[in-house]
Amino acid sequence: MKITKTLLAASLLSAATPTFAGEVEVLHWWTAGGEANAISVLKTMLEQQGYSWIDFGVEGGGGESAMRVLKTRAVSGNPPSAANIKGLDIQEWARLGFLTSLNQVSDKENWDNVIPNIISNVMKYDGQYVAVPVNVHRINWLWANAEVLKKAGASVPTTLDEFFVTADKIKAIGVIPLAHGGQPWQNATLFEVIALDVLGSEDYIKAFVDLDMEILGSDKMVEAFTQFKRVLSYVDDDAPGRNWLEATSMVIKGEAGMQIMGDWAKGEFSAAGKIPGKDYICAPALGTSGKFTYNVDSFAFFELHDEENFEAQKALASTILNPKFQEVFNLNKGSIPVRVDMDMSHFDQCALDSMQEFKSSAKTGDLVPSMAHGMSTTSYVQSAMFDVITNFFNDSDETPEQAVQRLVKVVKSSM
Ligand code: BGC
Repeated sequence: MKITKTLLAASLLSAATPTFAGEVEVLHWWTAGGEANAISVLKTMLEQQGYSWIDFGVEGGGGESAMRVLKTRAVSGNPPSAANIKGLDIQEWARLGFLTSLNQVSDKENWDNVIPNIISNVMKYDGQYVAVPVNVHRINWLWANAEVLKKAGASVPTTLDEFFVTADKIKAIGVIPLAHGGQPWQNATLFEVIALDVLGSEDYIKAFVDLDMEILGSDKMVEAFTQFKRVLSYVDDDAPGRNWLEATSMVIKGEAGMQIMGDWAKGEFSAAGKIPGKDYICAPALGTSGKFTYNVDSFAFFELHDEENFEAQKALASTILNPKFQEVFNLNKGSIPVRVDMDMSHFDQCALDSMQEFKSSAKTGDLVPSMAHGMSTTSYVQSAMFDVITNFFNDSDETPEQAVQRLVKVVKSSM
């Protein structure tokens, strides 16, 4: 039996609800169907413990708008209790003195034992937890409509070359081969998947983590842009500005055959009642089987001066790592739990594959951080990369060689 949000809420309701005065205001950008279902689990569980929840959802995939709003609020001295802040940005907020230590909770609950090191290191500043991870998203996924593939007589591609064969077959039956939204973060998401395939894990890390100029300016990087352009030729003309969830919905409805996107897309398939393996296929994108681009959502906790609200913050932090929450949240969100000790029996095959590859890729050096989702580098370098990639997306006259030259130049100046 699948554990659903409703079931969970019912079982929690049967317990007596204490009331506390503390409240949490939580900033996020989870406003799409699956995302909203997921965050509402946290709200329910907090309220069941007697705390108040003030929802601070800012629309906009990838979270750029949410981060802009957060900066304004924090700078004016009125930060929320917690905000979905990821990767290196956590260190930056902590360094500026905005965040609070959660060690009272993390020591008591032994977080070090349940969170993989690669993730807990990012959550800590000066040895103290200042953020709590919620999940692990995998970026290098390909989503395909099973019916469209069948009609086109096409198979799930397992290499870039096979992708083009499948895309041509889908095109031949009058369906858009690849659903995509031409927003900077989506362009970067697609690009980094292609780059992982073309460069391999080692050079991907050199380029996007170490910012190695030799790799950034290499022929392989030119090849990544060349393949990016070729993949984009299978996208329809209405892509610029399109939301990621509209793109996912095109695949759900069979208006498009495939999408390359992180597994929050699965949250949309699930919210629409679609079954993996039957209605849609999840597969490692292009030739990236065995590789895993990770994107960890996490809530950073702001320093507050109200004691009751601090109590509510601690309850929030503890709830995020509660196994029951981890299960129901991630079932809705499309991601996998961040705890390594979870019972995965309620999860679907996509999640099981993801968990398996998350663990095995860590051993082979193929677990790589997402540039597009703020895991690999600072937001300055990231936004410089977004500019180059999106400029290339928009300007059909720019050559891959020119894009690579620009990439080297702008990365150098934003380091
Ligand atoms: C976040 C996901 C979110 C996606 C689309 C990513 O950066 O990590 O949680 O679903 O953006 O908004």
